[in-house]
Amino acid sequence: MSAAAVPGGRPGRLLQRLERGLDWPGGAALNPLRHLGALGFLFFWLLAASGIYLYAVLDTSASGAYPSIDRLSREQWYLGGVLRSVHRYAADAFILVTLAHLLREWMLGRYRLFRRYSWLTGVPLLAFAFACGIGGFWLNWDQLGQFSAQATAEWLDGLPFFASPLTRNFLNAATVSDRLFSLFVFIHLGLPLLLLFGLWFHIQRISLAEVLPPRALAWGGGLTLLALALLQPVLSQPAVDLALAPTVLAIDWIVLFVHPLMYATSAAVVWSLLSGALLLLTLLPFLSRRQRAPVAVVEPDYCNGCRRCLADCPYAAISMVPHPQRSARELAVVHPHLCAACGICAGSCPSSTPFRSMAELVTGIDLPQSPIGALRQRLRSGLAALQVPRKLVVFGCDHGADVRAVQGPDVVTHSLVCAGALPPSFVEYALRDGAAGVLVTGCRPGACEFRLGQQWTVERLDGAREPHLRDSVPPERVASVWAGAGEEGALVQALDQLRQRVARLEPPSLQT
Ligand code: HEM
Ligand code: SF4
Ligand code: SF4
Repeated sequence: MSAAAVPGGRPGRLLQRLERGLDWPGGAALNPLRHLGALGFLFFWLLAASGIYLYAVLDTSASGAYPSIDRLSREQWYLGGVLRSVHRYAADAFILVTLAHLLREWMLGRYRLFRRYSWLTGVPLLAFAFACGIGGFWLNWDQLGQFSAQATAEWLDGLPFFASPLTRNFLNAATVSDRLFSLFVFIHLGLPLLLLFGLWFHIQRISLAEVLPPRALAWGGGLTLLALALLQPVLSQPAVDLALAPTVLAIDWIVLFVHPLMYATSAAVVWSLLSGALLLLTLLPFLSRRQRAPVAVVEPDYCNGCRRCLADCPYAAISMVPHPQRSARELAVVHPHLCAACGICAGSCPSSTPFRSMAELVTGIDLPQSPIGALRQRLRSGLAALQVPRKLVVFGCDHGADVRAVQGPDVVTHSLVCAGALPPSFVEYALRDGAAGVLVTGCRPGACEFRLGQQWTVERLDGAREPHLRDSVPPERVASVWAGAGEEGALVQALDQLRQRVARLEPPSLQT
């Protein structure tokens, strides 16, 4: 990929602009758009916690359900009533962030190749989320619940599967039996359990998946629901009267929009829209013609089984097996269909240090299209070609600000697949090989194309993660800037600052 290409094309660029705007108030780490999956989990946990209390007080009989829930809102507003409202608003929020998460992943083109699994396991979650939400309205058994249950029955009757119409279950009070109500309870408890299982499945191929947003964002989400619950408490609508079709209802448009859509069109139209949308989402990953980049390759002779690549791989693409040649040692193995070809593992491997004396640097795990040995070679020749006393090296990434923007007579630039593919020892090596200063750059925090590369790079440079930049490296000669594609101005500025700083220092002497 060329430097600074934005995955997802024009929609991806549009989204990046929007996300940068939202980075402004609290920084990228607190931008909700960068944590939509984690916010989905937060709202799921809030639904589960509030739902447990509601279930404990719900009378699960057809005649008892309405009064038991209504009482909760009126007589115990301060606990049960608030929890009921939080439950409803958390359901709306869950659906909204799930849709936004899907849209974001689509806009960034994150549905193909190694992300196919995450995408395909996400699609059914969407259907489950709506089914769970719709089923929840039935349990109140007020007129909105009646409307939703009858509309769902009519909609299902549009399929040629049922011997007798489901709508018959709602003819009169006698047909709405406790058995039917048990089915409602079963649906509203069973589907969330399936959803939870689906969520677990969804993040199986993601290492260290973010299943809770940063604390400030979690508090913000929780307190917003609480404020809504207090300002606009959810109350039951009039009790069910099967002799009457409800005429005026305050509908929850986020969860129940499908019912008015059906009445405005027909059951067949809604079935066609739903199956068409699900089919399209399912086929999307297979329609892409983009070729898979060559995946990481392990070199058994240089793998000591340290497990650093296993710990750093963002896509759980590495496992360990007994080393075939060395007893009591392990060997890393790459699962090609999971590998994102990000190179982060090469950045973490202790054998990737350029100080090794071998003529051709071979490391334990590497990307064939961007080997560590070639990086050392290019770095050496690039530095040797510069004819100025204070040379600067910029290590960047193909997805962040384009390093070509800072090319000049005193600069040598290298763009890696991901900033995380840079072994920190290369910074020290560049300084010893004649560079006066080194700038490391990559995507904004929370915006790493490969999830964890930016974070690992910061931690490695700060000495908080292995392999770390050695303490002996003069900090005044090293700088970093985290800027996305299109933010080359920040890169130019950071390099200028470094240039001015090293101008005040002694010119370096060759030490390698
Ligand atoms: C039902 C609610 C959902 C929740 C709670 C959820 C949650 C998550 C989480 C926590 C991650 C990992 C994020 C990270 O740590 O980087 C993730 C990744 C992902 N999700 Fe979802 N997800 C949901 C639905 C969906 C849907 C409907 C789709 C699309 C059809 C989808 C597509 C993806 C993709 C493609 C990734 C991988 C992103 C990457 O590789 O960087 N998810 N999701
Ligand atoms: S290239 Fe990236 S995804 Fe593939 S094994 Fe290495 S760290 Fe994991
Ligand atoms: S980081 Fe390198 S040495 Fe360690 S297990 Fe992975 S490939 Fe082997």
